[in-house]
Amino acid sequence: MNPLLNHAFDPEEFRREGHQLVDLLTSYLHDCRDAKTMPVLPPSLPDDMLDFWTRDLKNSGFNLQEFYQTLISQSNHIHHPHYVGHQVVPPAPLAALTELLEALLNNGMAIYEMGPAATAIERVVLRWLAEKIGMNDQADGVLTSGGSAGNLTSLLAARQAMSGYNVWDDGAADDSKLAFMVSEEAHYSVARAARIMGWGEKGIVKVPVNSRMQLDASKLEETLTNAKDRGLKVIALVGNACSTSTGTYDPIDEMADFAEANGLWFHVDGAHGGAAAMTEKYRHLTKGIERADSVVIDFHKMMLTPALTTAVLFRNGQHSYETFAQKAEYLLSSEAKKPWYDGAGRTLECTKKMLGVKVYAMIKLYGDKLFSDYITTTYDLGQTFAGLLKNEKGFEPAVQPDGNIVCFRYHPDGFTGDINKLTAALRKKLMDDASFYVVQTNVAGQTFLRVTFMNPFTTEQDLSALLNLVKKLAS
Ligand SMILES: Cc1ncc(COP(=O)(O)O)c(C=O)c1O
Repeated sequence: MNPLLNHAFDPEEFRREGHQLVDLLTSYLHDCRDAKTMPVLPPSLPDDMLDFWTRDLKNSGFNLQEFYQTLISQSNHIHHPHYVGHQVVPPAPLAALTELLEALLNNGMAIYEMGPAATAIERVVLRWLAEKIGMNDQADGVLTSGGSAGNLTSLLAARQAMSGYNVWDDGAADDSKLAFMVSEEAHYSVARAARIMGWGEKGIVKVPVNSRMQLDASKLEETLTNAKDRGLKVIALVGNACSTSTGTYDPIDEMADFAEANGLWFHVDGAHGGAAAMTEKYRHLTKGIERADSVVIDFHKMMLTPALTTAVLFRNGQHSYETFAQKAEYLLSSEAKKPWYDGAGRTLECTKKMLGVKVYAMIKLYGDKLFSDYITTTYDLGQTFAGLLKNEKGFEPAVQPDGNIVCFRYHPDGFTGDINKLTAALRKKLMDDASFYVVQTNVAGQTFLRVTFMNPFTTEQDLSALLNLVKKLAS
């Protein structure tokens, strides 16, 4: 036996290193929970970081546990209660542990025989989610690798179902000017899907937003008429549940009415906030989501799952078979009735991770309540923070938040300079300080700080500490 290969597959070394890694990660999780003095971000200049790892690769000698430790210290600490940056969830630790199992089993999932249990589990998880958001048993879909892939998958299905000809097999008709309508607050992956489909910028018809950055439903009629007058064939309407930048929800139910009345496919990008449909308290924000033709929900945003795990649900499950209708005969059954269990016919991926397994483990371990408790807790933090902003002099929210994303800025009394420049400078100082991770965004042409409460252990005291830090840095 080749000694190197033998070493690489040594089960006992796996056991030894694995136990040590779990101990290391356990201490790390304790540090994140307890040690608020620990910075949220590592010192990080891109060129320095590249230099470090370039040199490290050339160094002789390597200790796996030291490598793990170094990697932790150079990474963002998502489990730290002061991590209020981008929409990345601190995964439930046992979901991460389950991912280790998935990584080692590595069943490919393109077709049933490549991942039997994981294929069935994926379907069970999708059915479970469809029911939780109020869809009936006609719903079906796929798990895919991220919300961007999910939006593309949904919009490809919309195109195939609504273009009026077989665009998948025959290619785009020269004279077809297909388009969809969406607010300007949509995630860029929605516009990118239109461009990938070859529609260019004209394929994205922007519906104006109101002062809360929600799609203004009163403008739908006029926008559609104008698009038709320009010779566009609008096939779909896309709603944000919620938008990435400000976290506000479009009027989903009203949009469903409009789509229905005008024969449009209705897609809901619920990558971040679609799962709020599972909560008592915030369900109203997603009212009508069950009427959508397609819905995307990221488990790796508001459902405690390591990235990437995205559900694409179709209200009429048959549509999920049309998205990628082309045959790959060596993999896929060519029978007319497509079997539910050969996933590659319905996803962008051929080989796919065993995406549903960790979600299934969480449902069984903790019950559905885990997800609604998590969403409710983090959305409540959004309301708490909005209350603090109101009571603290000088702070202004961009919009009243719906959920756990809040945009705000500090406008001290008597400040007459450029507020956008001040806000950008403050964000830079916050990054240098590294005790909180806060990002920056643009709302209606104005610069704002943006926080997303992803950690259910962030407290009101943490939020007050953030506002105090902003004031201190501004002075
Ligand atoms: C509303 C929305 N849609 C889609 C995406 C893209 O999701 P992913 O990062 O999983 O590709 C995001 C990511 O932030 C998002 O907020």
